[in-house]
Amino acid sequence: MNVCVLGTGYVGLVTGACLAEIGHHVVCMDDDAGKIEVLLRGEMPIYEPHLEGIVRRTRAAGRLHFGTDVAEAVRDAAVIFICVHTPPLPDGEADLTYVEMAARRIAEHASRSALITEKSTVPVQTGAWIEKTLAIYSRRPGVEFDVASNPEFTREGMAVEDFLHPDRIVVGVGSARAEQILRELYAPIVEGRFRCPIHADCRQDRAVPFLVTDIRSAEMIKHASNSFLALKISFANALADVCELAGGDILQVTKGVGLDRRIGRAFLNAGIGFGGSCFPKDVKAFVKIAEKSGYDFALLREVDRINERRREMVLEKLKRALWILRGKRIGLLGLAFKPNTDDVREAPALAIARRLLEEGAEVRGYDPQAAGKARQALPELTVCADPYEAALQAEAVVLCTEWGEFTGLDWPRVKAQMVRPLILDGRNALDREKLTAMGFEYIGIGR
Ligand SMILES: NC(=O)c1ccc[n+]([C@@H]2O[C@H](COP(=O)([O-])OP(=O)(O)OC[C@H]3O[C@@H](n4cnc5c(N)ncnc54)[C@H](O)[C@@H]3O)[C@@H](O)[C@H]2O)c1
Repeated sequence: MNVCVLGTGYVGLVTGACLAEIGHHVVCMDDDAGKIEVLLRGEMPIYEPHLEGIVRRTRAAGRLHFGTDVAEAVRDAAVIFICVHTPPLPDGEADLTYVEMAARRIAEHASRSALITEKSTVPVQTGAWIEKTLAIYSRRPGVEFDVASNPEFTREGMAVEDFLHPDRIVVGVGSARAEQILRELYAPIVEGRFRCPIHADCRQDRAVPFLVTDIRSAEMIKHASNSFLALKISFANALADVCELAGGDILQVTKGVGLDRRIGRAFLNAGIGFGGSCFPKDVKAFVKIAEKSGYDFALLREVDRINERRREMVLEKLKRALWILRGKRIGLLGLAFKPNTDDVREAPALAIARRLLEEGAEVRGYDPQAAGKARQALPELTVCADPYEAALQAEAVVLCTEWGEFTGLDWPRVKAQMVRPLILDGRNALDREKLTAMGFEYIGIGR
């Protein structure tokens, strides 16, 4: 099938590359000429495991193309995915300027009928607005557009795996034709009919659920899913605070709670809170769309508030241990918003770094993949080449992102670098017993 992807960011590039991998012909288009140039040179604008090999292979096979010319990109496409960003406005509402712009351009340039599919995370009713926009700006007689919603559930750091082996595929459609096109597009994944580029001996042992809904329900499913996961994290964080006040170890508590299959262990993790380009903005946007529709989603407002307070909690813990922060050097391990990505958007580590800098501390950070993006986002932060440099002369080291490599650090070496061997384990990811036996002062969350 000929597919066009508008917006070649974290979602667009994974979508385009994976659809090419399962046999479709894909053009990925982006306004950011710099990003497209990088891709045309054969380099990657983002770090995402397994993606580079897929991009290289599908380009070589002639199934994946990149460009900045929207007219050329949409020309032959039967399916056009909108994968542009939907950032928050100051009041939390989703800014849909880029979605509208994408729809307008499709209307103006498409020369054949096509299925326009929103993959960006958008508030309920966006599909209806896209339909109107296409109708208003469409110039060519005989060209007809269908609209569908196909929310994306991939996790950064696991995006390729998630795209090719999803828990479910949700399509919101308004016509049988739209459903048929998306069924055909995803058939190789749903039926396990592709050679898995990640696991050589991969055998899909079950058909992937393919859920067909109306467009509004599909839009709602995405916001509801992200909000529920955020709620689980904030719930664990509230529990951690109660553990600290009343006694109990959050790790034991969440294990005991999570073993209940009705609840599940995933995302029941206390720490410095959620970040990234999705959860914080999606929770806020969902609150806003509910409010605009006449419902006060107080539950989700609290999820957001608990999360915002996590950064301040880190400052309070450091002040309790170090008294004065001004003039003291603090090392941060991990700057990306989570492991296995270079994405620093809304990263808790950077929010903590900003607060520490405001308090007059000197902040040095290290991340295996996000150094460049962290430097760009926060130039006042000293980004180090390795974790030992980040710990050099530090009065405390804060683990902000639980990259696997941090558990295996040469901790005696870290300790030897520090002025005071104080570890604040912001993700409860380190071995408290081992570190205290080595002579570290260990501060966890909710323990
Ligand atoms: N990042 C994720 O893992 C993830 C997962 C699920 C859903 N989402 C949602 O997907 C959407 C995209 O997220 P992202 O992280 O890929 O964003 P991103 O910022 O990485 O990528 C968006 C890209 O769209 C381009 N763009 C903007 N307007 C354009 C236009 N009119 N035409 C062509 N290109 C245009 C930008 O230049 C940018 O490269 C958001 O709504 C997000 O909430 C993201």
